[in-house]
Order: sequence, then structure tokens, then C-alpha cells
Amino acid sequence: MEKTKLVGIAEIAELAGVSKQAVGNWRMRYDSFPKPTQDLQSGSIWEREKIEDWIKSFRREETHVLSFINLKGGVGKTTVAIAIAELLAQEERKHVLLVDLDPQTNATVTLISEEQWAEMDEHGQTIAQLFTDKLNSHEEPKFDVEKSIARSVSTINDGIARLDLLPSSIRLIDLQDRIPMIALSGNFTSNPLEILKVALQPVMDRYDYIIIDCPPSLGTITKNGLRISTGYIIPTIPDIVSTWGIYQIVDNVHRFSTDIDRLLPALGIVATKVQSNNLHSRIINDLRAYHLGQFAKPGVVLAQPPLFDNIIPQTVTVARGADVDADIRTFKGKYGIAYSNFQGLTQEIKSLCETKKL
Ligand SMILES: Nc1ncnc2c1ncn2[C@@H]1O[C@H](COP(=O)(O)OP(=O)(O)O)[C@@H](O)[C@H]1O
Ligand SMILES: [Mg+2]
Repeated sequence: MEKTKLVGIAEIAELAGVSKQAVGNWRMRYDSFPKPTQDLQSGSIWEREKIEDWIKSFRREETHVLSFINLKGGVGKTTVAIAIAELLAQEERKHVLLVDLDPQTNATVTLISEEQWAEMDEHGQTIAQLFTDKLNSHEEPKFDVEKSIARSVSTINDGIARLDLLPSSIRLIDLQDRIPMIALSGNFTSNPLEILKVALQPVMDRYDYIIIDCPPSLGTITKNGLRISTGYIIPTIPDIVSTWGIYQIVDNVHRFSTDIDRLLPALGIVATKVQSNNLHSRIINDLRAYHLGQFAKPGVVLAQPPLFDNIIPQTVTVARGADVDADIRTFKGKYGIAYSNFQGLTQEIKSLCETKKL
């Protein structure tokens, strides 16, 4: 029997596997929802093909997964990753998961209390348990992704409703060198680069954005983050030593993306902890003009990623962020004059993700 070419609300609901009410909501909410071919007294009708295409593209609304990477520590990776996650959740009303992949656990203890962290760590509710399970493949796995997600985290508003955290643990330090050995540990079903991917699969669709705070290296843990990323961001202090590694990052990520056969674009470089001195101004100008160090050398084919327009100034407010006495319940209190810069940066990132579907 030939498929009918026209469908009504009831058929659309059936096609999409949702209620008629949900289809009605889609019609109201999304300008992109196809216009009916005809409005009959019994209801509107659509061309089945147009509807099927729309449902497909709607479902394709992929989660944007962004890794924050630099080979150097102390350049503001964690600070920027947290601020972007908080602003996307609170001001842009996005559902955001921050994944802390750094054994230093800075993002974790900024977003939840040390008491909460200690309790979660004790119960194996951190990223370290996930990797431990893979190394002890003969034992029953303990990691449970649902239980390991701390909900409504951040000091802002005593918790941001749409911001969740998958915490890290200092236990990861002991594990990181052994993680590449997973393939040899008898656990042949686990690809050591896809541990995070498999673990997050059940919760992935829940989030509009997953922000990954990476350790300062390009080891197996960071690659687990890159494996699921739709793009990455390089926070850097605009000085000579800090920017020197940018070429290495771009080169390594490019090779990794070729290996795994996935597009992995650098969205851009964020200038952090910017001071008003000649050196910082000069390097910012170089970055704006795409004249950065090794990229400008003869024979180098990789392009320097663009510098985001919004730069993040060095401020005492951000520096004292972890101070318990500080007013860190509001964006203004937590970020001071850098608040508007973080807001601007959030807009830039969001617009890149949404227009380029990264
Ligand atoms: N814009 C800023 N102004 C002042 N201090 C900052 C700023 N950004 C980060 N810091 C401070 O610099 C230190 C390192 O920042 P962090 O984000 O932890 O870097 P990373 O994650 O790259 O190691 C922290 O003490 C942090 O509070
Ligand atoms: Mg960090």
C-alpha cells in the first residue's frame, strides 16, 4: 500500500511518537514548523514528507559539547568554563552539564561544597570511579551516571536550576597513567578513548550544552572529552609563554580529529587575565591579526583560531572568587567588572554553536 501523502495532527503525533498536544506546542513555538497545505474544517493537513524532514532536523538539534583546553595550567580555563556554563544556564536558560575532567578538581569545588564533594567521592560518584571501573574490569562496575550528577550547582543564587555537574576527584591522579592500559587490562570491549562517551550517552540528550573542563594536557582523559566534543575553546593569558603552546594544541587536536574521523573545530581563543600593559596589548593585536608565532611560519598549513572579541580582564573580584566571605551569590559579586565580558563571550560562543551547529 502506498504511504498517504497527507497527514493531520494525529498522524504527525504518531510519526514523532509524541502526544497531539506536543505537536500543537511545536506549531506554536517553532517558526520552522511547516505551514499546512490546507486548513480544513476537520483540522489542518500537511505534506507528510515536509513533516518527516522537519522532525528529523528538529531531532538533530545536537547537544553542543565544548572542551576548554590549554596545555598550561593557571591560564583561566576553569574560570572561563564555569562562567560560560553559569551564564548559559542562568541567563540563556539552557540546560548545561559541566564535566570536570581535571584531577585538580577546581571546577568541582567551585560549584559544590567540599562536604558534598567528599560525600560523592566516598560513594564513587565522580569521574574517577568511571575510569576505575574500566581498570578493574573483573569487578562489578560501580559508576552510575545518574547518581554522579550533582544538580542545580553553583554559588550563584545558591544554585542554578539548569546547571549540573559531573565532578572530578583527586583519585584521578593515580589513575591517569594507567588509563591507556585499559585495552590491555582484559577489558577488550572498552575503547579507552570512548569511556566518557559511553557513560554520558543516557543523559546526553537532556542537555543543550556540555562544557568540559580539561586538565592541562592532551592525554587520554582530555581525549575522552575531545571524542565527544563538537568544538573546543582555548583560554590563554596573552603573554609569550602562554600563547606558545597554542600551535601544539591545534596541531594535536587536528591530528586526533583526523584519527577519529570527526570534525573538531577550534571555536576560538579567549584572552584571559588581561592586564593593561604593552605586552598584553601587543599579543592581543597579533592574535586579532592572525599573526601568532608558529602559525605564521613558512610551511605551516594550519590556521590560527580566531580571537574572541570579548577579552577577560584580570580582576581582584575573580581572583578572590573562592573566598567564602566574598559575595559570590550574584554574577556581579562573583565576576565584578569581568561580568559583562563573560556575558559578551557567552553570546559569541552561543551564536557560533547555533549558527554553525557545532
Ligand atoms: N580574569 C581573572 N582575573 C583574576 N584572576 C583570575 C582570572 N581568571 C582566573 N583567575 C585566577 O587564576 C588562577 C588560575 O585560574 P584557573 O581558571 O583555575 O586556571 P586553569 O584552569 O587554567 O588552571 C585562579 O586562582 C583564578 O582565580
Ligand atoms: Mg583548571
